[in-house]
Amino acid sequence: MNWQSRRVLVTGGAGFIGSELVAQLAHAGARVTVLDSLVNGKRANLDGLPAESTTLVVGDVRDETLARDLLREHAVVFHLACLGLRHSLHAPGENHEVNAGATLAWLQFAREARVERFVQVSSSEVYGTAQRAPIDESHPTAPATVYGAAKLAGESYALAMHRSWGLPVTVVRPFNAFGPRSHHEGDAGEVIPRFVLCALAGKPLTVFGDGTQTRDFTEVSDTARGIALAGSVPAAIGGVFNLASGSEISVLALARTIAARVAGARASGVAAPIVRLAPRPGDVGRLVGDAARARKVIGFAPVVTFDRGLDRLIGWYQAGGVAPEELLRGFEARNWNAP
Ligand SMILES: NC(=O)c1ccc[n+]([C@@H]2O[C@H](COP(=O)([O-])OP(=O)(O)OC[C@H]3O[C@@H](n4cnc5c(N)ncnc54)[C@H](O)[C@@H]3O)[C@@H](O)[C@H]2O)c1
Repeated sequence: MNWQSRRVLVTGGAGFIGSELVAQLAHAGARVTVLDSLVNGKRANLDGLPAESTTLVVGDVRDETLARDLLREHAVVFHLACLGLRHSLHAPGENHEVNAGATLAWLQFAREARVERFVQVSSSEVYGTAQRAPIDESHPTAPATVYGAAKLAGESYALAMHRSWGLPVTVVRPFNAFGPRSHHEGDAGEVIPRFVLCALAGKPLTVFGDGTQTRDFTEVSDTARGIALAGSVPAAIGGVFNLASGSEISVLALARTIAARVAGARASGVAAPIVRLAPRPGDVGRLVGDAARARKVIGFAPVVTFDRGLDRLIGWYQAGGVAPEELLRGFEARNWNAP
């Protein structure tokens, strides 16, 4: 799709992946409206974008009047607003409300507004642990958390609205993303930014369980490009697409890699220690994705290697001018309990 002057709405667009998607769409000439409650997103994530092409509306996706009004004014919707996996461990009801309940309402309003495309950003967490690997889109879904279950409900509602009413929906299932503007803080905190900051501060990197659980990481610029492609290719309507690198790394190997890589960037050259804690509830054992369908149908191909992505993130923290110790203030190793 030519994004020039297209009116695009990105829910959750002040968040980690959303802000990268907004930047890519704005640079491609789209006029982007961001709806975000800023519960985990930040205004600063949209800094540097041209004001004439990017508008931030601070509001809640559960506000139905606001949803209806915004949907009437936009042709393409990328629905990313959501509360995270660890949030679902301490607040499952609210997690369901935002991730599943609000999604159903948005789909109904999108139908009324006759939007041209609704991209539902789901998650690899819908699969649960791999029963066979790599995981393609026909792999059974067996989410291990309320987050994964709510994401599965959201994407199932989207596909049902397509099948019942022809709503032009596309579902993407990103595997783990990492990169600048990712979260280290609170229950939104993800493993890579937490490991990088702990390593920079010389604090222990915490591995839950034996560390053999694996993940498939994609750099956020690749993830966001995949999401944008899903919203632009006509053949993607009604489809479900993994966004994955196809490479698998265990959490223990990840901790060792990051500790060693950051040690090289620290004055002392000493690697941070790695400690093990009891397993986290709902921690999926194995996740590695097959993105062949996305490659074939929407032309998705990740280009940022894991090492380059890691260096980019380390450099981003170093250029940010805030000491890692400061960013880690109030750090909780077990970041899934109620705040
Ligand atoms: N980060 C990953 O590795 C990953 C992997 C798979 C799927 N995803 C999906 O990608 C999307 C973006 O995730 P992210 O990692 O950028 O997380 P994020 O928390 O940075 O982004 C979500 C955004 O939604 C906003 N939000 C939350 N509740 C809201 C509400 N009620 N109303 C309005 N805005 C609200 C938050 O403020 C935040 O900015 C999510 O749908 C997530 O499920 C992420």
